[in-house]
Amino acid sequence: MLGAGDRGAARARWLGTGLLGLFLLPVSLSLEVSVGKANTIYAVNSTEILLPCTFSSCFGFRDLGFWWSYNGSDTFKILINGTVKNEKSDPRVHLKNDDRITLAGSTKEKMNNISILLKDVDFSDTGKYTCYVKNPKEKDLQHHATIFLQVVDKLEEVDNTVTVIILAVVGGVIGLLIFILLLKKLITFILKKTQEKKKECLVSSSGNDNTENGLPGSKAEEKPPTKV
Ligand SMILES: *[C@@H]1O[C@H](CO)[C@@H](O)[C@H](O)[C@H]1NC(C)=O
Ligand SMILES: *[C@@H]1O[C@H](CO)[C@@H](O)[C@H](O)[C@H]1NC(C)=O
Ligand SMILES: *[C@@H]1O[C@H](CO)[C@@H](O)[C@H](O)[C@H]1NC(C)=O
Ligand SMILES: *[C@@H]1O[C@H](CO)[C@@H](O)[C@H](O)[C@H]1NC(C)=O
Repeated sequence: MLGAGDRGAARARWLGTGLLGLFLLPVSLSLEVSVGKANTIYAVNSTEILLPCTFSSCFGFRDLGFWWSYNGSDTFKILINGTVKNEKSDPRVHLKNDDRITLAGSTKEKMNNISILLKDVDFSDTGKYTCYVKNPKEKDLQHHATIFLQVVDKLEEVDNTVTVIILAVVGGVIGLLIFILLLKKLITFILKKTQEKKKECLVSSSGNDNTENGLPGSKAEEKPPTKV
């Protein structure tokens, strides 16, 4: 029987493991900011581009602060900032340093989208764009994410042939592996069946005199040496 102390220790250990597991989980419960999967986005000069940014927090938010910064080769500036009152309201812009920028997303209905739209993109807009979020409800916890914008005069035609070839090769290799595995299974199966057949024959022809039931060694020595 466990004493009260032992039980307490066991529970503490269990709790510890549980908490450790929580930290090891890939999902985070606290504030997170994301600009999507791509590190770099490309925009053609004179067109418009959406710079994506979403945030999430399991604790909810109140008077959330957000801002976007631009870091180019020799300039750093805050592009836009604002607040979001709560989960039921859309963001309110406090400051905007560039008329070409508009807030594009919505923060209602858990969309938590504070993307910005940059119009009339110029080559000098190339640089790092960072989206910051600060949540007073989480002791002013702050997070940010950065995306690189590359302005080009025309988008490269995405050459799909290479992708198609790679996919075909990978698919082919996987298919071949599966085929080999199946073939191996089949051959082992056939070999087993034929061996069983052979054994049956041996049993029927020479009674008990087969290697498995006979004295160990006596028959094995007669076997020709196996492949080296
Ligand atoms: C801007 O980016 C450069 C390097 O890319 C970095 O050294 C610098 O600290 C950044 N500036 C700010 C204000 O974050
Ligand atoms: C927005 O920027 C202005 C000027 O720098 C600053 O006074 C204000 O506190 C900022 N607001 C937020 C919500 O970050
Ligand atoms: C954020 O809002 C913009 C503008 O409505 C939209 O194009 C974009 O897909 C949204 N992003 C996400 C992740 O929902
Ligand atoms: C982008 O810039 C290039 C080079 O300056 C120019 O030739 C081209 O017309 C521009 N594209 C657009 C859509 O304005």
